[in-house]
Amino acid sequence: MKGVVLAGGLGTRLLPLTRITNKHLLPIFDKPMIYYPLQTLINAGIDDIMIVTGGNNAGDFLKLLGNGRQFGLKDISYTYQEGEGGIAEALDLTRNFADGEKVLIVLGDNIIEKNIIKEKEDFEKQKEGAKILIKKVPHPSSFGVPELEGNKVIGIEEKPENPKTDHAVIGIYMYDSRVFDIIETLERSDRGELEITDVNNAYIKDGTMTCSVLDGWWIDAGSSPENLAEATQLVIKTGANNLT
Ligand code: G1P
Repeated sequence: MKGVVLAGGLGTRLLPLTRITNKHLLPIFDKPMIYYPLQTLINAGIDDIMIVTGGNNAGDFLKLLGNGRQFGLKDISYTYQEGEGGIAEALDLTRNFADGEKVLIVLGDNIIEKNIIKEKEDFEKQKEGAKILIKKVPHPSSFGVPELEGNKVIGIEEKPENPKTDHAVIGIYMYDSRVFDIIETLERSDRGELEITDVNNAYIKDGTMTCSVLDGWWIDAGSSPENLAEATQLVIKTGANNLT
């Protein structure tokens, strides 16, 4: 199984911090933000990783992460997303890298407390389809919100005004190789993006999506200055991904 960190975008929700740099290079306590999602993949047992970047200072990722040896990786691959076409468009750039294998995607600003190796191994055993992780949150309407029947997800709404549950779909996704064919069928949303929620709903529709509740805390550190600050507080208080 291969790993992908999505670290593109213009980071407009964090202006002026992101005027001259990429949001995934901003500090969370004593490390650049991208260290955390990278470590999430490594802790899950993945050693073949691609970084998708774009926008400001894309070259700095190479300077920062180099060939991956400092993380115990054999190699890191990089690719470049032009513009802000959304998560699914960024993922589409990894088709050749994935080369028919399953992929574990982590959004570059999503930080978690614990290890997801169990969920990754469950997905390796899953014959086909996709797997998402969900977490109870105070303000679900800022996220993709799952509609649940027991522990089965029967639909996802992207940032709904009236959320059907108090859970968010977090930015860690597992897909089989069919994901790239699904992305080809997508149409742009009102915000002009290819939405990852549409990818997930396609898997839900054909009955091959599974879902687990994440253990430990999760934060979307790049979605507001408040979350950026809170992420640092969480990392100082409890640590994340063995990185403190
Ligand atoms: C994205 C997804 C959303 C998900 C969130 C997790 O939102 O579209 O479904 O809940 O990441 O961080 P965005 O950060 O693009 O607003």
